[in-house]
Amino acid sequence: MSVETQIRYQRLNDLTASQIEAIRAIPAHDEATTPVIEATRPTAMFLDDAVYAREQEKVFRRLPVAITVSAMLPEAGSLLPHDAYGVPLIVSRDREGVVHVFINACMHKGSTLVPGCEPQKSARITCPYHAWSWKLDGNLAGVARAETFACLNKEKRNLVELPSKEAGGIIWAILDRDAEGDFSLLGDDILADLNALALNEQHLYGRKTFHLESNWKQVIEPFLEGYHVQRLHAKSVGPLFADVPTVVTRMGDHLRQISGKVEFAPDGLENEKNIHKTITHAYLLFPNTVLITSPYYMSVMIVIPTEAGKTQVDYHMLTLNKADNAKSEALYKTSYDTVLGVFGNEDFVAAEYCWKGLKTGALDNIDVVYSGLEHCILMQYETLEKHMN
Ligand code: FES
Ligand SMILES: [Fe+2]
Repeated sequence: MSVETQIRYQRLNDLTASQIEAIRAIPAHDEATTPVIEATRPTAMFLDDAVYAREQEKVFRRLPVAITVSAMLPEAGSLLPHDAYGVPLIVSRDREGVVHVFINACMHKGSTLVPGCEPQKSARITCPYHAWSWKLDGNLAGVARAETFACLNKEKRNLVELPSKEAGGIIWAILDRDAEGDFSLLGDDILADLNALALNEQHLYGRKTFHLESNWKQVIEPFLEGYHVQRLHAKSVGPLFADVPTVVTRMGDHLRQISGKVEFAPDGLENEKNIHKTITHAYLLFPNTVLITSPYYMSVMIVIPTEAGKTQVDYHMLTLNKADNAKSEALYKTSYDTVLGVFGNEDFVAAEYCWKGLKTGALDNIDVVYSGLEHCILMQYETLEKHMN
């Protein structure tokens, strides 16, 4: 007798009142109207090292940023080294299941404690140099030949911890070690949305890191507009989507876009077994994290600037159901290959093309121009500019 796996889907009524209201606001595609806008941005916004430095100071070192997804560290007693933001970090989940974010530096002489970028199970963080060790809550646990130190104050040698918070299925931190730890930008409304999407209950199916030659904002732009979908993705996923604006909601500094797939009809949504088959949610979690729902998985991309023209993208594919049988494994494998192909070979390539083209100076005198199908990009830039000024 075969064991039936219980497949879990999300229905309309699993969502928040605000999400449902936005879904109800999607017009029938033949009735949708697209705004006409006049908006430009100077190329310096993408190219200038001074702009990059200011973004680092005012945004990335000051505000909460996503470090990884909760699903990367599903079990107590695990840790993850993370290097991309320019501050070497260790994320841990201690014995009680509480998440911490530490600076990845030994409190003896500063050595990297955990090299690499792979998650691991461990009861301790142990320095490779002289084997000092810490518990996963950051407290110093052991010093080799401790009797040879005349005046070692162990309490001052706990790991340096950054303000962090696990919420909405994401582990956030503030990279300034002296910051107050103000996570109020993660408002209740956005976290309610993420929790309704069960982001905190997802399993990690796969992850991939991309190193792109592009400004981080250019990497995010295609996830804030539908203008390119029928064009750039004409041979892949373009035909699945309609060429109409999304329903956009500002949620504090974050943005939510909701849209209907090409076969979308406003009636009968409450009867659908899997709401993600007809509705796509796309979030920009300010400043740099993109969440997109698909019928059988969700994509979380943390877009990390490493120079004005270099960006690391940590892509995660999350699934509500575990890949614990051949059928779901096959479905998820196909999905994973497809999404990496679309994002990796189409969206990310477009971002790199834009960087290369802007670097020529060809648009320096006339700026970059945006259409009514790209107005959500301007909403992101207004928020960014608010923090920069
Ligand atoms: S530098 Fe880490 S134990 Fe010595
Ligand atoms: Fe795209």
